[in-house]
Amino acid sequence: MEVRLEQPGQKRQVLFLCVFLGAAWVGAEQLQYSVAEETERGTFLANLAKDLGLGLEELSARGARIVSDQNTGFLLFSTLTGDLILNAKLDREELCGPTEPCVLTFQVLLENPFQIHRAALHVRDINDNSPIFLDKEIPLKISESATPGAKFLLERALDSDVGTNSLRNYTISANAYFHIHVHDGGEGTIVPELVLDQMLDREEIAEFTLTLTALDGGSPPRSGTALVRILVVDINDNSPEFVQSLYKVQSLENTPVGSLVVAVSARDLDTGSYGQIAYAFFYATERILQTFQINSTTGDLYLKGELNYEAIQTYSITIQAKDGGGLSGKCTVVVEVMDVNDNAPELLMSSLTSPIAENSPETVVAVFRIRDKDSGNNGKTMCSIPHDLPFVLKPSVENFYTLVTETPLDRESQTEYNITITVTDMGTPRLTTQHTITVQVSDINDNAPAFTQSSYTLFVQENNSPALHIGTISATDSDSGSNAHITYSLLPTHDPQLDLSSLISINANNGQLFALRALDYEVLKTFEFLVGATDQGSPALSSQALVHVQILDANDNAPFVLYPLQNASAPFTELLPRAAEPGYLVTKVVAVDRDSGQNAWLSFQLLKATEPGLFSVWAHNGEVHTSRLLSERDAPKHRLLLLVKDNGDPPRSASVTLHVLLVDGFSQPFLPLPEVAQDSAQDEDALTLYLVIALASVSSLFLLSVLLFVGVRLCRRSRASSLSGCSAPEGHFPGHLVDVNGTGTLSQSYQYEVCLTGGSGITSEFNFLKPIAPNFLTESTGREVD
Ligand SMILES: *[C@@H]1O[C@H](CO)[C@@H](O)[C@H](O)[C@H]1NC(C)=O
Ligand SMILES: *[C@@H]1O[C@H](CO)[C@@H](O)[C@H](O)[C@H]1NC(C)=O
Ligand SMILES: *[C@@H]1O[C@H](CO)[C@@H](O)[C@H](O)[C@H]1NC(C)=O
Ligand SMILES: *[C@@H]1O[C@H](CO)[C@@H](O)[C@H](O)[C@H]1NC(C)=O
Repeated sequence: MEVRLEQPGQKRQVLFLCVFLGAAWVGAEQLQYSVAEETERGTFLANLAKDLGLGLEELSARGARIVSDQNTGFLLFSTLTGDLILNAKLDREELCGPTEPCVLTFQVLLENPFQIHRAALHVRDINDNSPIFLDKEIPLKISESATPGAKFLLERALDSDVGTNSLRNYTISANAYFHIHVHDGGEGTIVPELVLDQMLDREEIAEFTLTLTALDGGSPPRSGTALVRILVVDINDNSPEFVQSLYKVQSLENTPVGSLVVAVSARDLDTGSYGQIAYAFFYATERILQTFQINSTTGDLYLKGELNYEAIQTYSITIQAKDGGGLSGKCTVVVEVMDVNDNAPELLMSSLTSPIAENSPETVVAVFRIRDKDSGNNGKTMCSIPHDLPFVLKPSVENFYTLVTETPLDRESQTEYNITITVTDMGTPRLTTQHTITVQVSDINDNAPAFTQSSYTLFVQENNSPALHIGTISATDSDSGSNAHITYSLLPTHDPQLDLSSLISINANNGQLFALRALDYEVLKTFEFLVGATDQGSPALSSQALVHVQILDANDNAPFVLYPLQNASAPFTELLPRAAEPGYLVTKVVAVDRDSGQNAWLSFQLLKATEPGLFSVWAHNGEVHTSRLLSERDAPKHRLLLLVKDNGDPPRSASVTLHVLLVDGFSQPFLPLPEVAQDSAQDEDALTLYLVIALASVSSLFLLSVLLFVGVRLCRRSRASSLSGCSAPEGHFPGHLVDVNGTGTLSQSYQYEVCLTGGSGITSEFNFLKPIAPNFLTESTGREVD
């Protein structure tokens, strides 16, 4: 710390001041001193004794002392040395504040004589204070819309120093946006101002801090700093921008409703409501609105309705994003719908012909079309029918198919076909549709009625009642409807003898045959005729069958005696020689029966005789033999009553009266025969005779054959009788009967064996017999077998 006395140059100044002050203080001289503030205590300021021109003894003697209006404690005066010492460290800012110059005045009092000397201490400023900002942080909001050149006043700093040590300049930390401009604030103050050099962009820098430095003019200068915090205030200067301008999405058409399709996203660099985005469709079509929905806050695009590739393949959706300030951006979402095999193929029947006529050549049964709404392989189809049907599928253009018959159909083998058409597409998974059509086959009259038998054999007992149902013929027709409606008829016979229409009638509807009148076996044993069956088709078809009617014999005829004639005017007389031996054949009664079979098996019986015991009748052949020798006593005339009875049920009989005349010496038993022929010269008698002769010859031939047969038979039988299994028909044919077979009497004094055990046996026997006596077999034996 420097304490200095006034120099001569400075003394002039002091003098000038004394002159100036002297206007108030007349005659008094002012002492001027100067000291820098903050000078250390105890610093020597001046020697008053010397400055007043007084000696030290005088000072103390005159009681020199210092007084001041203000606090005088800052000065110390020693009367011993006359030195004025600084008693305290002075702070100019405290003493005078901003007042300049800062002068402390005091007086030096002297007594004896009383004298006052005024004095002043000038406290000089030193740069001991830095500029100070009251607020260390200065917030500053600047809109980003501020244009370059805009000025923003800043708070100023304070500096307690004065003069050159006071605040002189402001600086701002280096930055691209602002510089500082200092302008006069009046009363020697300066005001700092921020000047915008280039536009702010909140989106680039939203907030930054600058350091404001205040400088004083000291040497060296002192400084103080404050932070300027600049907040860039947003304006809606950014439109929402989509991350992508085009979103391409592929969605399967079976995507469930409510699924997220795509999330669009837009950005808005602004803040607050200016940066808040709402998404919405931009002029969406009704279809889009029905199918999609967007979350306005998230931008998620959802499926609202079902997608259908078959209806719409592509959606182009424009989405708008709008911020709170009304700015908007757009993007496009292209939704490509992917086909899924979700449609089964369809079969559309165009025409179906049913029924179709049988036997017709290749016929179109059905025309149909296959449709599959899917595309690609999902829409490709295959069509098939079962292979075992007589139909083929013929593909045509535009997915049309025709179903045609492969071969002519036969209604009689199958009347209807159920054809299942199977359509499958090629998608994954494969979808199949089945369609069954029923095709009826209509009838054509292609089948003639068919009789159940190619020929019918009907048996009718003779003497039937008129209009007797004798049998039924029947035919079937495998066609249907009127083509199978059969009417029966009798076909005209070629036999002129047969008056068929009087014999037989037929029920046209059911084929029942009726005998119109009583039939007589003896007149007509058998007849045959053709019946026809005709259907009602167009043209009608018919067929015919042979009906063979056999009339069965009834025992309706009594035996008729041929010999001897019973209605002759003169009764017939047999001559019997008296010398005849017993067993002499007197005569043979010949009888016939018009019936046949059993009904014609005749037996003879002696009913009454003049001399019983003289004659015997052989039951089976009607031969009348003598039983004993004749004697002279025997009456010459005898009358015999014979009964001829058939084997019918009930039996019928006829009686024969024989006249026998015993003659002597007459030994020609057949003598009367020519007489008979001569006696009865009528044609009928002659005929009867011929008949008898014919019968006799036939009988002898028969006898011969049978003898031969029996001989052979016996030979075989002796070897294998036990093995043959055949039995003689003793029990069937009564030995005492004769089968006249409806034609005449046979001498049948023997039996022959017929094997009846079985068909093969019979055949073999017949085969054996055949070359020997074919006529006999067919007429006689054959009937017995029946
Ligand atoms: C204030 O400081 C700046 C930079 O330090 C300078 O360019 C300018 O001249 C100064 N102004 C005054 C009045 O000293
Ligand atoms: C949008 O999504 C948000 C978040 O998931 C949800 O809270 C809001 O309810 C949705 N809005 C609509 C309309 O669905
Ligand atoms: C065809 O189908 C119908 C109805 O299902 C059935 O009544 C008929 O018997 C079937 N016909 C054939 C030949 O299978
Ligand atoms: C006897 O009967 C036969 C057969 O019936 C007949 O042909 C003949 O004329 C009759 N004779 C006399 C005389 O009545």
